[in-house]
Amino acid sequence: MIYFDHNATTQPDERVLDAMLPYLQHLYGNPSSLYRLGRIARSAIDTAREQVACLVDAPASQVLFTSGGTEANAFAMSSFQGCRLWRSAMEHPAITENISNCVRKYQAVKALAVEASGVVSSPEATEALQHGDCVSLMLANNETGAIQPLSSWVESVKAAGGLIHTDAVQAVGKMPVSFRDLHVDLMSLSSHKIYGPKGCGALIWGADVVLKPLQRGGDQEFGLRGGTENVAAIVGFGKAAELAKLELEQRISHTLSLRIRLEQQLKSIPGLVVFAEQVPRLANTLQFGIPEMNGEMLLMQLDQKNIAVSSGSACATGSEQISPVLEAMGVEAVLAKSAIRVSLGKSNTALEVDQFVSVLKTLLAKH
Ligand SMILES: Cc1ncc(COP(=O)(O)O)c(C=O)c1O
Repeated sequence: MIYFDHNATTQPDERVLDAMLPYLQHLYGNPSSLYRLGRIARSAIDTAREQVACLVDAPASQVLFTSGGTEANAFAMSSFQGCRLWRSAMEHPAITENISNCVRKYQAVKALAVEASGVVSSPEATEALQHGDCVSLMLANNETGAIQPLSSWVESVKAAGGLIHTDAVQAVGKMPVSFRDLHVDLMSLSSHKIYGPKGCGALIWGADVVLKPLQRGGDQEFGLRGGTENVAAIVGFGKAAELAKLELEQRISHTLSLRIRLEQQLKSIPGLVVFAEQVPRLANTLQFGIPEMNGEMLLMQLDQKNIAVSSGSACATGSEQISPVLEAMGVEAVLAKSAIRVSLGKSNTALEVDQFVSVLKTLLAKH
């Protein structure tokens, strides 16, 4: 099978599985227990916290483990209170739906305009921020891979005395990310996008943020997330983070060379449009459209040939709507409906790229 959907999820790395297994077998202690088995589990969580902190250059004491990127976003959105909250129209549903859920907490929800190029407008081109306004802006888009101008927004939000969150779920492990250098207040991460297990993620939170528990119980995770920790998943996330840090440059250059190869070959298909082509994108991501084609149908035909791609966000698959990301960029509905997203990973090969293009061209020739 050719797996080209690494922005949806990744296959857990063998080294991650090896690290996790003991915590599902003989090292099954409860991290809150005082005896040795418990202390081993506690120490494994501490190590994982250091590994995740190291990947994103943040203090370990500010890493809160969650059940994934969605819960990290839910924490972040519920920490914004009494402010006007700005978010772009291309945020993931894990942001937009959590904003809707907390809408009574905000004075107003405002939209950051998205340019046709695939990035949000600059603060200068937007209505001025008022004192205390907060912003949630993703670091890189899950569909187009477009890297967002976060630093200019950080400056403006800080100048206005507000807080800023970034959903870095797609960026981490695919580009260098430093919580310290970005100067954001909150950052969401997910384990299964970086060859770690599903159901685990983290929220990094800064000194000016007051987090409130979403679920109560014991005093796990700084008293912010009651419930016995998923030790094996946290250990796996930690290992995945360690590997992502060690292998980052290699992964970027490998996926970039494949993406360039893919892009060059796709260019020979008449009318094919690469979305967000003119802006910096994640090395591994390429979303394109072919006018008059139905992206979902093409996806199913590719599936029959044992090739897995996405038509956009995995969470939008199956719904008849066109991608809100492409809609926000002003892409015409007929072109947006033809969208296919290829997201490459560390074990993909040049041969797979060539095979994909060859199968795609054969399918297109039948239309
Ligand atoms: C940008 C973005 N944010 C959040 C999420 C949700 O992360 P998780 O699946 O870990 O809940 C995703 C998943 O696709 C995503 O792409």
